[in-house]
Amino acid sequence: MTVNTTTNFGVSVIGSGCSSPAQKITNEQLASRVDTNDEWIKTRTGIRERRIIGPNESLSDLCFKAGVSALEMARWAPETLDMVLVATSTPDDLFGMAPQVQSKLGACNAFAFDLTAACSGFLFAFVTATQFVRSGSIKRALIIGADQLSAWMDWDDRRSCVLFGDGAGAIAIEASPVNQDAVIGFKLKSDGSRGDCLNLPQTRDFDPLVSSYQNQKGGFSNIEMNGQEVYKFAVREVPSLLQDLLLKCEIDPESLDWLLLHQANQRILNAVADRFSIPHTKVLSNLAIYGNTSAATIPIMLDEAVRDGRVKPGHLIATSGFGAGLSWGAALFRWNGPS
Ligand code: COA
Repeated sequence: MTVNTTTNFGVSVIGSGCSSPAQKITNEQLASRVDTNDEWIKTRTGIRERRIIGPNESLSDLCFKAGVSALEMARWAPETLDMVLVATSTPDDLFGMAPQVQSKLGACNAFAFDLTAACSGFLFAFVTATQFVRSGSIKRALIIGADQLSAWMDWDDRRSCVLFGDGAGAIAIEASPVNQDAVIGFKLKSDGSRGDCLNLPQTRDFDPLVSSYQNQKGGFSNIEMNGQEVYKFAVREVPSLLQDLLLKCEIDPESLDWLLLHQANQRILNAVADRFSIPHTKVLSNLAIYGNTSAATIPIMLDEAVRDGRVKPGHLIATSGFGAGLSWGAALFRWNGPS
């Protein structure tokens, strides 16, 4: 699926917010637990440290704080929200975390649900919310990307545990006149046939139930990843999708103000930029201090760059999320900021 067709409304991207756990774990600290070292992690990934949720925090707390921050920037009262969409693979409650967040925010007029697409989750949620806005079904949406992959990590597997961290980021969007649409186009892709190179599968333990029948006990194992396959997937598919999107929208890569990619690995970010001859100064990156926070990377990065003044109203941003599923997507949008 792709690019705007006929719509009733456009979309304005108005506010952003983020929240990170208090606990900071450096590469050196990880090296006291697994056979790794700061030099290896920095050189292969660009990551120096990550934030991990501790006993006094929860992922829904982080979502709430990120949401409050985005609403404050947008200058919206929570009750004016129509929708709260939380992209996460690691909810506090398997039945859905978004309603808890909606309630804590006081967004009493909003419906709320979770959406799962792993590290592509925020991008998929962003596109989903824009479709509700475009159709005229809703006016204001809060889109949150949040994950706590630390809970599902094998902390003795050095090939994966050095990569990930926890966090939450949020973006507030609202309806605009159709001729002022800030979301220029998007593309979303999935390929379940390659899903086994990155997954977090259920455990398959069964208990006796009645007579000879059994029931499955709920539970999940740890993250399983073939790092090299995921790396190849990202550096092949992301540029290819971005290329298609830029062509379809008739946008020259030179006219982009920022490349806002899912923060998985600095080498992936650089490789994608190089494919379009985009200078590395236009590549937003903060994975050195957060690692890969899954569905949270894109909104956390956007919020930081908005607040420190790099991203300004009117700037054109190419964004792409990619990860487990496999799933990947890209969107072109302008940051509007609060009116
Ligand atoms: N510390 C020290 N050594 C490590 C290590 C670690 N944390 N992890 C792996 N190694 C070792 C390996 O055991 C291997 O040793 P060997 O040659 O003696 O067997 C060596 O380093 C090279 O391993 P390799 O897997 O080839 O490294 P790589 O250059 O492919 O980098 C990743 C590994 C994971 C950093 C890289 O493949 C990657 O970033 N993949 C994408 C992962 C990702 O982004 N996942 C999330 C997507 S949303």
